[in-house]
Amino acid sequence: MCGIVGYIGKEQAAPILLDGLARLEYRGYDSAGVAVYSERAESLSVHKAKGRLQVLSDMLQGGAALDGTVGIGHTRWATHGAPSDVNSHPQVSRSGKIAVVHNGIIENYAELKAFLMDKGVPFTSDTDTEVVAQLIDYFYEGDILQAVVRVLHRIQGAYALGIICADAPDQLIAVRKDSPLILGYGEGCSFLASDVTAIIKHTRDVGYMEDGEVAVLTRDGIQCYNHLMQPIQKEISHVDWEIDAAEKGGYEHFMFKEIMEQPEAMRRAIFPRIKDGEVYFEDFGLTKEYIRAIRKIYIVACGSSYHVGMVGKYNLERLTRKPVEVALASEFRYMDPIVDENTLVVVISQSGETLDTMAALREAKRLGAKVLSIVNVVGSSIARESDVVLYTWAGPEIAVATTKAYSTQMAVIDLLALYFARVLGTIGEEEYRAVLEEMLRLPGKIEAVLADRDDIQYFASQYFNHNSVFFIGRNVDYALGLEGSLKLKEISYIHSEAYASGELKHGTISLIEDGTLVVALGTYSKLFEKAMSNVVEVKSRGADVLALTTERHKAEMAKTANAVMTIPDTHDLLLPSLGVVPLQLFAYYVALMRGCDIDKPRNLAKSVTVE
Ligand code: AGP
Ligand code: GLU
Repeated sequence: MCGIVGYIGKEQAAPILLDGLARLEYRGYDSAGVAVYSERAESLSVHKAKGRLQVLSDMLQGGAALDGTVGIGHTRWATHGAPSDVNSHPQVSRSGKIAVVHNGIIENYAELKAFLMDKGVPFTSDTDTEVVAQLIDYFYEGDILQAVVRVLHRIQGAYALGIICADAPDQLIAVRKDSPLILGYGEGCSFLASDVTAIIKHTRDVGYMEDGEVAVLTRDGIQCYNHLMQPIQKEISHVDWEIDAAEKGGYEHFMFKEIMEQPEAMRRAIFPRIKDGEVYFEDFGLTKEYIRAIRKIYIVACGSSYHVGMVGKYNLERLTRKPVEVALASEFRYMDPIVDENTLVVVISQSGETLDTMAALREAKRLGAKVLSIVNVVGSSIARESDVVLYTWAGPEIAVATTKAYSTQMAVIDLLALYFARVLGTIGEEEYRAVLEEMLRLPGKIEAVLADRDDIQYFASQYFNHNSVFFIGRNVDYALGLEGSLKLKEISYIHSEAYASGELKHGTISLIEDGTLVVALGTYSKLFEKAMSNVVEVKSRGADVLALTTERHKAEMAKTANAVMTIPDTHDLLLPSLGVVPLQLFAYYVALMRGCDIDKPRNLAKSVTVE
């Protein structure tokens, strides 16, 4: 989702803003712009353009064309008003004195726009954001902070705002509600940004704004206020991961780097949580009494995080014998879910900022449920609003297509299932030990799969020209197929569908014809024979079958499938943690061969902070 950067200090602002926006490009956008206060002209200099950030940077000679030491910048992912120069941010008020950058949606912008137009205020853009700029101007009587506060009482929706005023060039104003915004504390300078990546080059001391908070940034520091405009002292966190963790580290794409980082990410997610042969969650906020009283578990997420939930359902039910439902976050809040104080809602989100998921979290809490979130981004909104947070500690994930976050989320939900089963006494000592021992071997087994990636690259070279692909599987293989299909779709733009193998014959098999590519997942040993019969079923209708199975079943599968990808044998509960890796690699190599923009696929954003 879009990116916001703001700077006030002694250095020229424009180069800092452009560099910060460049580090936010991965979030997905369609246009970019900056507003800098020019001391010489004593006015705002606003430049913005549709397209890649490079267009803007070239327009500004990398920032050299703009003088001024205070400014705001934005990369936009349009929600209201098509991508265009005029709809790009910053949006400027009629007086030209106030510029605003915004991440989110102003839900009541239409009525506010009508009100202002009735007052004779001219609008230049089709955006919801322009309403904020015009409304601040409308209330402005010399005190920009007071005008902003008056506007905050009138706008509804989700917003992270950066605001600059030509009459108050020694400050920037930041506002946060639902969309993420952080503050950066420097020597003689202050920053605001959508996330740490944009400013870590300048400061590692950051504050995470909470909903309703307002901040006034100056060269001498940052004054924050709560939603009642009472001054508050923000906790300052020190970010300790290295800047190159957010760089490509020599790989061609962030996605490939992050696929290759999975063994290390899995070690970080798993090892601290297995102590003396027991699953251990530090500061775990769920008591044993509460766990025993759980009557139902809801898993709520979007996209790949939802696919983790689909696997999690199988494992949680198998281990705890508690009923588990999985819901798309965007559906959950409108389905009148059966939730009460004995429902545990597990929210899964890499970014911790997905608005659909955040809205579902709030609905769950409104209904009386406890919320446990599995999140990668520390300090993110979803993390901060959950009753219990289990971080995946996968490190920054830059590629839009998630990989290491998916696999670490899977590991965490497996650990949670084991922890619950241990408390509930629904897992035998022997199996408990066996699964934990196997979890500790997972990183090494993923390394083995990665070592054989040339085989996957070869299969991709055979199949990258297909325009329709089916992923079929049963039980956890079906859940895994959902993720394999999404990976392929989102980065190679090949239409793909994941199907429960047993369901094919109820209609969709009519689409199987000579040469149709079917990726048949058969890792789950209990249903291997069924998987084999489905391979025969689609082969007999002309399909090309690329199978995925375990070493143990490779020879059997190779008798029928056209090609076979394999993973090392492991405990049934952990098969998806290994099985996802060949599917990630297959999607990556196919997209590579199709010349796609792998890290920034068209129309997609890393964090979807609009509905
Ligand atoms: C996954 O590759 C996609 N980028 C997308 O489906 C993503 O999983 C989804 O938008 C949820 O994001 P989150 O985990 O940050 O909430
Ligand atoms: N809703 C605003 C617009 O469409 C902001 C979108 C964003 O978050 O980038 O301009």
